[in-house]
Amino acid sequence: MSVTRIAHLSDLHLLEEDVRRRRGVARLQVEYLSLKRPLNPDGRRARAELALADAAAADPDHLVITGDLTEDGVVGQYDVLRQLLDGCGLEPGRVTLLPGNHDGHGLAWAEALAGPLDRWAATSRPGEGVRLSGVRILPVSTAVEQAFWKSSGRAPDDQLAEVVRTATAAHELVILAQHHPPFRVRMHWIHGLQNVSDVAQLLAANPNVSLLYGHMHVARDVEVAPGEGARAFAPCAVVDGDDPLRIYAVDGNRLVPLERGAAAA
Ligand SMILES: [Fe+2]
Ligand SMILES: [Fe+2]
Repeated sequence: MSVTRIAHLSDLHLLEEDVRRRRGVARLQVEYLSLKRPLNPDGRRARAELALADAAAADPDHLVITGDLTEDGVVGQYDVLRQLLDGCGLEPGRVTLLPGNHDGHGLAWAEALAGPLDRWAATSRPGEGVRLSGVRILPVSTAVEQAFWKSSGRAPDDQLAEVVRTATAAHELVILAQHHPPFRVRMHWIHGLQNVSDVAQLLAANPNVSLLYGHMHVARDVEVAPGEGARAFAPCAVVDGDDPLRIYAVDGNRLVPLERGAAAA
């Protein structure tokens, strides 16, 4: 029986082609959100294109992209994402998209899934999620309405309840996919997950749940309980990281990170 493999990318921060034509508040907003990264739409697009090509070449059963897909969620940025996904060689049914805090300033996530990203809605909308051999992937949207200078998130109670229901009934691996990390971060009230303790408790109480996240732009494996092995995983950011693709194998009710070479083999 073949092993189910999951690919993971995060934090593309795509820009629309004519972003430099922005003026006024729209220009200030995108400059602020870009931090010190230059407003180079071609460079951002090239990095995302390469990462998606690497993901497709690894031929995973499924690809999860954990948010900050765009710099500030305007239609032109989602159009770039759609073009890249269309051209990457992975059909929409094999890709799950999550919203990050950057994706909520233009279209609301539900509007993006009903519009530019409609072909990825079935695998990305919170709810039933994706069913693969030996694993369920449940997307959880942590996007909240907030001032543009904040980057916090919140995992909705009903979506977490669905993860618990599935984990209790499934007796197999459940992957909770969300943008924000399941631990406290520096200046948490600005940058962190508002209900981080709910997600941490969910992981502690359900050993067959693993979590994929982004937001921090740093690759990391996180243990829920000391000595039991990592159960939460993040890649470095596509927008500014080296080697941003991660691949994991499903092994019973655990998710096991593979070396890149092993994944390619
Ligand atoms: Fe980000
Ligand atoms: Fe983020």
